[in-house]
Amino acid sequence: MNILLTGGSGYIGSHAAVALAQAGHKVVLYDNLSNSQLDVVSRVGRILGYPLVLIEGDVRAPDLLGQALREHSIDAVVHFAGLKAVGESVAQPLTYYDNNVTGTQCLLRAMHRCGVRTLVFSSSATVYGEPRYLPLDERHPTSAVNPYGRSKLHIEEMLSDLALSDASWRIACLRYFNPVGAHESGLIGEDPNGIPNNLMPYIAQVATGRRDRVSVFGGDYETPDGTGVRDYIHVTDLAHGHLAALNFLASASGVGWHAFNLGTGKGHSVLEVIQAFERASGMKVPYEIVARRAGDVASSYASSDKARHMLGWQAKLGLDEMCASAWRWQRYCAQL
Ligand code: NAD
Ligand code: UD1
Repeated sequence: MNILLTGGSGYIGSHAAVALAQAGHKVVLYDNLSNSQLDVVSRVGRILGYPLVLIEGDVRAPDLLGQALREHSIDAVVHFAGLKAVGESVAQPLTYYDNNVTGTQCLLRAMHRCGVRTLVFSSSATVYGEPRYLPLDERHPTSAVNPYGRSKLHIEEMLSDLALSDASWRIACLRYFNPVGAHESGLIGEDPNGIPNNLMPYIAQVATGRRDRVSVFGGDYETPDGTGVRDYIHVTDLAHGHLAALNFLASASGVGWHAFNLGTGKGHSVLEVIQAFERASGMKVPYEIVARRAGDVASSYASSDKARHMLGWQAKLGLDEMCASAWRWQRYCAQL
């Protein structure tokens, strides 16, 4: 298949590009480089042994998008492009709705015009809002607690309406849990600008000495050790989930709109992650328990049964591999 990856030079997109290209697909990247660097594309090329095409453009630029879809005879789109910082979305909601919702609408119009009807969308476990029961399965009610989450929910609903209106669409919304880790080569990974919001990149920067200690947000949750529990998933497993979703959409069952959780089904606490990182890196990761972070829930983890049954996909890599790869990547970053 010829596959266009919007946001393809970002953290998850670059790993998916490797997995899809290694499975024999022709991969074309489309990214406005608002949160990634050109250099990532050359490092993806080093992993693959050949360069990928990057089209530098915005998903809100319909002409360029149409040209990309036609010139590369695209069969399917994987739509990663979007803004993802929760706090920033609260401060700048219109920027988030414009980039994420309007951006997706522009993409869908361009796909419609060019006769491309297969889409995999990067959704998030955030669409479940406050968990009413665990593990979270795809039937759990959806809700949003911030503009970022609401943009994901709007897009999921827009995609569902579209599939209902026209039976030729094949759409998979992949609800990622907590993607962490990096490619085994250590050449690509997550490198957030400024102070990391998320746990794993923060821990990695403490281990290298770039930051003093991890602030553990809350030690009094109703969890085994009192700290928050999440379903961390290795980005390489996540990347393979996109391959499985594309195969499913191409099958007879792929018609219509589908939602799948991509998680491991296992929860780990903040302290477990810190300990695993210490084991993987051989470094000490000092921490202190501070107040809870507003908006955080005690526990969140997936039921991954639907993806296992329908996509034939399940996560293979555990917390130790996630930490080891994050550490390898962190050391590579230190030389950049
Ligand atoms: P990322 O920021 O590393 O990658 C997103 C890429 O999209 C970047 O390269 C950015 O330059 C590009 N982009 C943004 N807006 C664009 C636009 N208008 N036009 C073209 N390109 C644009 O983020 P990521 O972690 O790789 O996330 C990818 C997707 O997965 C996002 O939609 C995100 O919301 C979703 N997601 C991420 C996580 C996570 O923890 N990383 C969890 C759940 C869902
Ligand atoms: C966050 C986002 C979520 C998004 C997800 C992507 C919030 C409220 N939620 O989820 O919308 O889909 O990232 O991966 O921002 N923690 C610490 N210290 C830190 C950082 C985090 O103790 O410095 C704790 C958190 O309280 C939580 C766990 O570590 O219990 C994981 O946090 P994080 O990596 O930010 O992910 P989520 O909060 O699950």
